Amino acid sequence: MAARIGIGLVGCGVVGEALARMLLEQRAEIAARTGLEFELRHVVVRDPAKRRGVQLPGGVVGPDTAAMLADRDVRIVVELMGGTDRAREMVLSALSSGKDVVTANKALLAVHGREVFAAARAAGRCVAFEAAVAGGIPLIESVRRGLIGNDIEAAYGILNGTCNYILTRMLDNNASYAHALAEAQRLGYAEADPTLDVDGTDSAHKLTILASIAMRRSCELARVRVSGIAGIELIDLASGRELGYVCKLLATARQYEDGLDLTVEPTFVPKEHPLAAVAGPFNAVSVYGSAAGHTFYYGRGAGGAPTASAVLSDMIEVASGNAGRVFAQLAVLPDQTPPPAYRPAGETVARHYLRIGLADRPGGIGRIASTLGAEGISIATITQHEPPRNGGVHVVPVIVTTHPVKRCAVDRAIRSMTAVDGVVSRPVCIPVFSDPGGGAG
Ligand code: NAP
Ligand code: HSE
Repeated sequence: MAARIGIGLVGCGVVGEALARMLLEQRAEIAARTGLEFELRHVVVRDPAKRRGVQLPGGVVGPDTAAMLADRDVRIVVELMGGTDRAREMVLSALSSGKDVVTANKALLAVHGREVFAAARAAGRCVAFEAAVAGGIPLIESVRRGLIGNDIEAAYGILNGTCNYILTRMLDNNASYAHALAEAQRLGYAEADPTLDVDGTDSAHKLTILASIAMRRSCELARVRVSGIAGIELIDLASGRELGYVCKLLATARQYEDGLDLTVEPTFVPKEHPLAAVAGPFNAVSVYGSAAGHTFYYGRGAGGAPTASAVLSDMIEVASGNAGRVFAQLAVLPDQTPPPAYRPAGETVARHYLRIGLADRPGGIGRIASTLGAEGISIATITQHEPPRNGGVHVVPVIVTTHPVKRCAVDRAIRSMTAVDGVVSRPVCIPVFSDPGGGAG
């Protein structure tokens, strides 16, 4: 006979609803596969009167957590409400009430992870969070357990489905940024506040968790250098394509001799690289380990059902006792270790793409080349298409790619360039990705 596990679900939106549907519609299959029968005893939401896309059992829906926390038959609280403050309170209460917690909330863990994990240890409970990074991809367990014999040198990839969807749609369908974002929201990929997606914060949350697990150090959200895609223009995506690059919002954790670098920023990926082929809402992550070399993980990183898939797998791991053992025994969780040493900003060496808006008159390109040369930056390619001929002085986009150079030199050159005669606006700069270990193959 299957063991019955009482569940308290907090949040029944995009992910919660998909999870409730799986639990209700696949109850018998899950029991047959796992020996566990999940019973949805409480569903806590903000507005109990709201129509849901799933038929919930009578009497389970309510607005507050007290009844759920007092119910001794609830063994696991599944937090799918999002946000940091209320979610923190709710999760800490669940742990101190003797419940294990499953959460998909990367913001909560990136901001309050140390406190939440420490509270779980103090209460003898566990927190499982596979769905918090890369949605349906079983990434956390692969890194935490599958690669335990490795020193991880780098973990990097596409961690936000909304941004990847926007970048793909803009280039392939000539869609405006605003239109592509609205589609991503309608499809359930975006956060309740989509600013968190497009400004890079959501990727930074996930990178903080992933890096902490991979590097086995307590990585800090505040140390992630973040820029998002909100200012991205189609001309740069198209110019990159001409040069053989695809623009991705890359999240990168990379260990250098002088410290760890954590960065989220739009990056040009050479079109031959596996990450360049990752389109739409898909996520992909490459992890480079000392023994395994490159490993690559690909799948749906956003959306109700893919995320619910990871949540359900955590629930099974918790209910069967595996998650608790891992949590208690493996010293690879972020609260147990000191923070890493971080690499000083600007030290990372890469090729860079620059787009400079230049008045089309004599000497302009020479002045740009001199500014770059003064910083020791060597030009790899330079492109200027002839502007339309309709009289007057035109502004033309001049596209420069550099040979590998430190970011701080590029930043200095950009500052100088804005004062150069004929340069009409601050140049756009996008770094070009280079793989640790020389390729993802
Ligand atoms: P959502 O659609 O906005 O749903 C949030 C749910 O939480 C709603 O049911 C809402 O109730 C409830 N809620 C919000 N505040 C509450 C409060 N103070 N008290 C009680 N209930 C409250 O969010 P979602 O997209 O499902 O995301 C849920 C979590 O999963 C977030 O942490 C998100 O980052 C994470 N996640 C989402 C995805 C994705 O693709 N969507 C993927 C991975 C991880 P009402 O319905 O009554 O408003
Ligand atoms: N808003 C997130 C994304 C959901 O677009 O990737 C998955 O965490």
